[in-house]
Amino acid sequence: MKLASPTPLTARRGAPVQGRIRVPGDKSISHRALILAALTVGETTISGLLEGEDVLHTADAMRALGAKLERTHECVWRIHGVGVGGFAQPAGPLDFGNSGTGVRLAIGAVAGSPVTASFDGDASLRTRPMRRVLDPLEKMGARVIEAAEGGRLPLTLQGAADPIPIVYESPVPSAQLKSAVLLAGLAAAGETTVIEAEATRDHTERLLKYFGAKIASKPHGEHGRRITLQGQPELEPCNVVVPADPSSAAFPLVAALIVPGSDLILEAVMTNPLRTGLFATLREMGANIETLATRDDGGEEVADLRVTASKLKGVDVPAARAPSMIDEYLILAVAAAFAEGTTRMRGLQELRVKESDRLAATAEMLRVNGVNVEIEGDDLIVHGKSNIAGGGDVTTHMDHRIAMSALMMGLASVNPVRIDDSAFIATSFPGFVGLMRSLGADLT
Ligand code: S3P
Repeated sequence: MKLASPTPLTARRGAPVQGRIRVPGDKSISHRALILAALTVGETTISGLLEGEDVLHTADAMRALGAKLERTHECVWRIHGVGVGGFAQPAGPLDFGNSGTGVRLAIGAVAGSPVTASFDGDASLRTRPMRRVLDPLEKMGARVIEAAEGGRLPLTLQGAADPIPIVYESPVPSAQLKSAVLLAGLAAAGETTVIEAEATRDHTERLLKYFGAKIASKPHGEHGRRITLQGQPELEPCNVVVPADPSSAAFPLVAALIVPGSDLILEAVMTNPLRTGLFATLREMGANIETLATRDDGGEEVADLRVTASKLKGVDVPAARAPSMIDEYLILAVAAAFAEGTTRMRGLQELRVKESDRLAATAEMLRVNGVNVEIEGDDLIVHGKSNIAGGGDVTTHMDHRIAMSALMMGLASVNPVRIDDSAFIATSFPGFVGLMRSLGADLT
């Protein structure tokens, strides 16, 4: 748990953002690869693993549950798993720090093992809803022994010795919830089905297939999917290559759009269509984002992108796009602040339960820097203008994405933008400050 004193940081307008970089590995895939490797008998190698604090917490948890993990080189890990349903009783509570993905996925995996485990996290994670994952897992036979108010962390779960396969219609568009049910379903005899009204990121499904599980996904309704997993597979060890995280690439990408004269190449960014809502939206706004080359990397499509400073205009972002860019609204709001005209982002209710209340925090971040912004119901409305005053002190609320978004705004505003704490950036994007400085950003 983080107790160190805060590390403020200030971003100033200066040189164009220029160069060629590869951002770290995808966070969602990194968590999933570690958990699936831990549930596989034999040796799996993961390369390009994101070594951010969130993922390292998941690695520690898998070790505490009996898997053997070894870091062989930078971002290359070798894992010997215990097999589906084979977790050992952990000696103490599992600490997931700031990570909702880590804890929700691990809760799902533990729910299908005959062990009792306690889960905890930092002050931000303790406020986040866990009932959404506990509800289906209880239907599958797991038991909540104790939990804080509303089923929040810290909580203790007893996994099911013989999990029951279920058909679950997800009440929220959440890939974490879907993944928790599928991971518990691995140990169930028979078919576990998750129905989602809006398709969310499908990395769990892709990786399960890659590890040899039988899993099928078909369209459901206008935007949804029906996913069916055959339980009790013999997962096969494999080599996983983690592509660069589009949610991390989003920060330097938007900086390059709003800082005049910028020209940036981002290498091997994952372009899974369930993750690229931001790129589509920015292109609609007039962003120059050129796809230089595409290829396939470990079952995911990746592309090298060239981004140059662009004159942006406001757009209307439909609610149906939210699942494919749920983590990108903060940085989109920064781009919208520098656009000509108004941008309306619809249907952002899920933003209220992220690492912070991101709807309120994004509005506050923009307001203290002189941007005209409104929240109407679950919509965020940003009135853009070319000259953003800046000069604001931004409260980051233990949220890495607020920290990085505010800093990117400071690179293009008239006056410097200061954040109260940069420490949480390390949860998802270790090396962010150094990488941005190498592109010319003035961060001190
Ligand atoms: C994630 C799913 C999303 C996203 C999070 C990562 C995942 O959360 O915000 O950063 O890896 O499954 P929800 O499932 O709560 O939408």
